[in-house]
Amino acid sequence: MASHIQEDELTMSSEELLQAQLDLYHHCFVYVKSMALGAATDLRIPDAIHLRGGAATLSDLAADTGIYPTKLSHLRRLMRVLTTSGVFSADVNASGDTTYKLTRVSRLLVGAGGESSRRHDLSPMVGLFVNPVPITALFSIREWFTDEKSTASSSLFEVAHGCTRWEMIAKDAGDDRLFNASMAADSCLTMGILLKECNNVFGSIGSSLVDVGGAHGTATAIIAKAFPHVKCTVLDLPRVVAGAPAHDNVIFVPGDMFEYIPPADTVLLKWILHDWPDDDCIKVLRQCKKAIPARDAGGKVIIMDMVVGSAGPQQETVSKEAEVLFDVFMMYIDGIQREEHEWRKIFLEAGFSDYKITPVTGIRSIIEVYP
Ligand SMILES: C[S@@+](CC[C@H](N)C(=O)[O-])C[C@H]1O[C@@H](n2cnc3c(N)ncnc32)[C@H](O)[C@@H]1O
Repeated sequence: MASHIQEDELTMSSEELLQAQLDLYHHCFVYVKSMALGAATDLRIPDAIHLRGGAATLSDLAADTGIYPTKLSHLRRLMRVLTTSGVFSADVNASGDTTYKLTRVSRLLVGAGGESSRRHDLSPMVGLFVNPVPITALFSIREWFTDEKSTASSSLFEVAHGCTRWEMIAKDAGDDRLFNASMAADSCLTMGILLKECNNVFGSIGSSLVDVGGAHGTATAIIAKAFPHVKCTVLDLPRVVAGAPAHDNVIFVPGDMFEYIPPADTVLLKWILHDWPDDDCIKVLRQCKKAIPARDAGGKVIIMDMVVGSAGPQQETVSKEAEVLFDVFMMYIDGIQREEHEWRKIFLEAGFSDYKITPVTGIRSIIEVYP
């Protein structure tokens, strides 16, 4: 093996060697993109651009976000990373100043300016993903893979933080707020699109639905509004349900999905199973099966999660990378983004007989699972 590597290096031209070195350094620095995105989101730079009518100079941004004038050149460098990666765009105006504008990506981070522009504010999600809590856990991968004591712990998170993700959320009010705001933000964007694009899936949810791990009920409230005849219930941990706001036509039930799921025609699992290893998913799915009627009486489980590789061989690199990066990210709590064969395995083991995958553009599919 070693001689192969040597031979390759020996036969590589200087240009090829330098390209390989460039690629390697690029891989090393990719996380800086995430850090720059996290900082810009924290500083509410997308809001500042939006509130300036869609174009802002560096001095505008500094004035609006409280950045010290001595840091202006540093801000320019941060914005250069983000314009190079397509988060913002940059133009030179008539007076020769660079003006920064929003792109489709940063428009998703605007929270200011009224209800309509807040609809798709995914900035809490950036705060949740680009966050020292998961990132610190990911620094323990080598130890978790090789150290006997660490590997006996169930997740990287426990190695790094000494408690589970859910225990940390329970004891840290700020983390709890961020988590629930992120889930609500994701639900607002995703559910609106899915209800519009996947009529066939939601048109047949029957007369009752229980959203398992439904957090503060944002997704359920959107379904309840679209289908007023459906009795909609959210099941989540007692602490989460206690903090949930009231929504029209949504009932909250405190509980544990591993123990009991209230009966309904449809069980919804949105971003739940990717949090858990196979054994735990099978336990939850068995409870789902107990909660729903037989297939010919309209029973089904709707899973909204990723099916890795569902876009097929033509999948673009960005989408392919987003899937596999998100999968390793989920390792921090011993979660998994599954390929179809991995989904099939847990469905069959939980006693389900059939399933149908509807791929949705982006990083999520809908899987209807039948008893
Ligand atoms: C990733 S969030 C998904 C929230 C929501 N479904 C969404 O997509 O916006 C996972 C949810 O599962 C809930 N959860 C974790 N363990 C649970 C349990 N044992 N029983 C019920 N819910 C649980 C968490 O409180 C959290 O709200």
